[in-house]
Amino acid sequence: MLININIIDKYLGLINSLLLRALLFRIFYVSLMDWRLTPKRIKGHLTRGTRMAAIFHPPLSKSFKTGKALVIYHSTTGNTKKVALAIQRGLREGGFEPIIKEVSEALIEDLYNYDLVCFGSSAIHSLPPTQVMEYISKKGLEYRKRYDVKLPANKIPGKNALVFVTFSGPHIGVNEALPTGKYLRQFFEHLGFAVKGELYIISEFHGWKEGSTKGYLGDIKGRPNIEDLKSVEEKTYKIANALK
Ligand SMILES: Cc1cc2nc3c(=O)[nH]c(=O)nc-3n(C[C@H](O)[C@H](O)[C@H](O)COP(=O)(O)O)c2cc1C
Repeated sequence: MLININIIDKYLGLINSLLLRALLFRIFYVSLMDWRLTPKRIKGHLTRGTRMAAIFHPPLSKSFKTGKALVIYHSTTGNTKKVALAIQRGLREGGFEPIIKEVSEALIEDLYNYDLVCFGSSAIHSLPPTQVMEYISKKGLEYRKRYDVKLPANKIPGKNALVFVTFSGPHIGVNEALPTGKYLRQFFEHLGFAVKGELYIISEFHGWKEGSTKGYLGDIKGRPNIEDLKSVEEKTYKIANALK
């Protein structure tokens, strides 16, 4: 069944891409997509159609840019939230309209509605915390059911992601956080997003004094500090600016 749908998708994408190259048809198509009274299901097919068409003809992705960015994060002791806010600032400076959401409120968001999705987590025993894992598992299932996860996964022009991880690295430094970053990364790559960056931000281990003073990274109390956050903001600005 999955194979058949993929074959149908393949030809629909090609046909769509040929049709959408005609400006008049594109205007009609975009109007239909934006029309308030278009039923949700049809809207879903139309937006999926644009993604498939862009795979066949990448310049089309420019016509379907939304200018919107989404920041999703989970934070128990506040470090990841600080970084998420710095990312939001960087996105704004880079010309995006950013929306920021805690992971528990982000399930209703369709990630494909954004040009750039930034996703941040702490590293807990080297992996994302349960809340983040649950989000990825539920969202992955939703997109697989919708046939958005392809065999193999295509890169969809115009769909981008940035992942960020806060960590304390008390035993072996950043290597403790890499599995978290890679886990977030593979989630987006399955969906066809191009991952524009993986940021790893040294952060205080709240509640474990030795972990923040005597670990592999030395004294990391108060981090992420102003300089760390400024650096995140600048990196995000550069990524956002390059996508405009
Ligand atoms: C139970 C627990 C386990 C942790 N495990 C790791 C770990 O394996 N590696 C690491 O670098 N940091 C680890 N940390 C530190 C957190 O990743 C780090 O402090 C993070 O910035 C917390 O983010 P938050 O303030 O947004 O919740 C752990 C923290 C806790 C509370």
